[in-house]
Amino acid sequence: MAVIAVIFGRFIRKLSKNAQNFTASANSIVEESLTGISNVKSFTQEIFTLNKYKVSTDEIRKLNVKSGLWRGVFVSFIIFCLFGAIIFIIWKGLLMTQGANPELSSQGFYQFILFTIMMGASVGSLPDLYASIQKAAGASENLLEILNGKTESNFISGDQKFEFLGAIKFENVTFSYPQRKDITVLKNISFSIKPNDHIAIVGASGAGKSTIASLLLHFYYEFNGDIKYDDISINKIEIESLRKQIAIVPQEVILFSGSIRDNVSFANPNASDDEINSALKKANAWEFVNEFPDNLNTEVGDRGIQLSGGQKQRIAIARAILKNPKILILDEATSSLDSESEKLVQDAMNKLMIGRTSIVIAHRLSTVREADKILVLKNGELVEEGSHDSLIKLKGFYSKLVDLQNIH
Ligand SMILES: Nc1ncnc2c1ncn2[C@@H]1O[C@H](COP(=O)(O)OP(=O)(O)O)[C@@H](O)[C@H]1O
Ligand SMILES: [Mg+2]
Repeated sequence: MAVIAVIFGRFIRKLSKNAQNFTASANSIVEESLTGISNVKSFTQEIFTLNKYKVSTDEIRKLNVKSGLWRGVFVSFIIFCLFGAIIFIIWKGLLMTQGANPELSSQGFYQFILFTIMMGASVGSLPDLYASIQKAAGASENLLEILNGKTESNFISGDQKFEFLGAIKFENVTFSYPQRKDITVLKNISFSIKPNDHIAIVGASGAGKSTIASLLLHFYYEFNGDIKYDDISINKIEIESLRKQIAIVPQEVILFSGSIRDNVSFANPNASDDEINSALKKANAWEFVNEFPDNLNTEVGDRGIQLSGGQKQRIAIARAILKNPKILILDEATSSLDSESEKLVQDAMNKLMIGRTSIVIAHRLSTVREADKILVLKNGELVEEGSHDSLIKLKGFYSKLVDLQNIH
């Protein structure tokens, strides 16, 4: 019996370990999606990501049902053996109460058996029961909190869908992050962008440049002033329609575990390999992808760790190209690159910007000289705006920044 118990025990442990592994992989999907939530949202891939999670949780369910079944078999076996033992004791005891001069009175015997069973069963199950109750109570508390929380649709009710021409307006926008209400990150910002204009936003790090990008994607709902696309307030525009027409190449590109194909077609799951390859070519990424033995099927590893920064950035650009957005936001897309990768990425971005409204956020000013208009941010305020030449003539904050970086 002991041998069977050991073998059974190992088998069940292996099953639950498998289930654990699947749980871990499901959790990593959640973790990645949450870390890359702005990717998921700006590419409106909520459903796709949910499905991915569903597949993996289904696997966990199957494994848990299997291990539950076997545990049931195991428990039945143990109970069978236990009852066998009890019956054996009863039988032996009964024999002891037999005869003319019994070793044990029959009353004493019955009492002993009964009390032992009752005591053992009730005390033995108490700690387990208590632990389960505690565990369930704790887990459901957290779950209920999450379920009762508000979703994006509680805040954003816009329902207008239309094809953007590409004009953008900020009207006296003042904003603080909900987690840090006391710090005003953008102060009374106003500017306007014509369709197909190429705009640059410059300023020291922390000035509020990325915050403008987040507001453009409607990641935050509470701000003063108004943001308009083609003269329609952002609050009136349906959120999915808005995000479908904007692509962002962020400074820190986060790829999802999966193949290069998965990561590029994230922008458009129905894209053919031809379309993906053409996007990769435009992004100057096709050559290095083709050097991998598995081409498009090359796994990028957790969060793309098996690719270099420049390669990841070019994959992100390919993703944006495949999305074919009306409005393109490039948030310091070249700042962490060496000069050769920078040239390739810059090249790819220049191609990508043609025929779209583009907003290039840059720390390095050499990359923004050709912009139609440069917005200069300082501590959340828009201090200057104009072309490179006019801002140099102004001899203000921008020209000081240019002097500091030694580029003329
Ligand atoms: N999610 C956030 N929550 C709270 N504060 C933030 C958040 N993101 C940025 N900030 C703060 O907002 C300010 C502007 O940040 P950001 O727009 O990222 O600057 P930039 O892109 O110009 O470097 C900074 O002071 C930063 O600390
Ligand atoms: Mg930034």
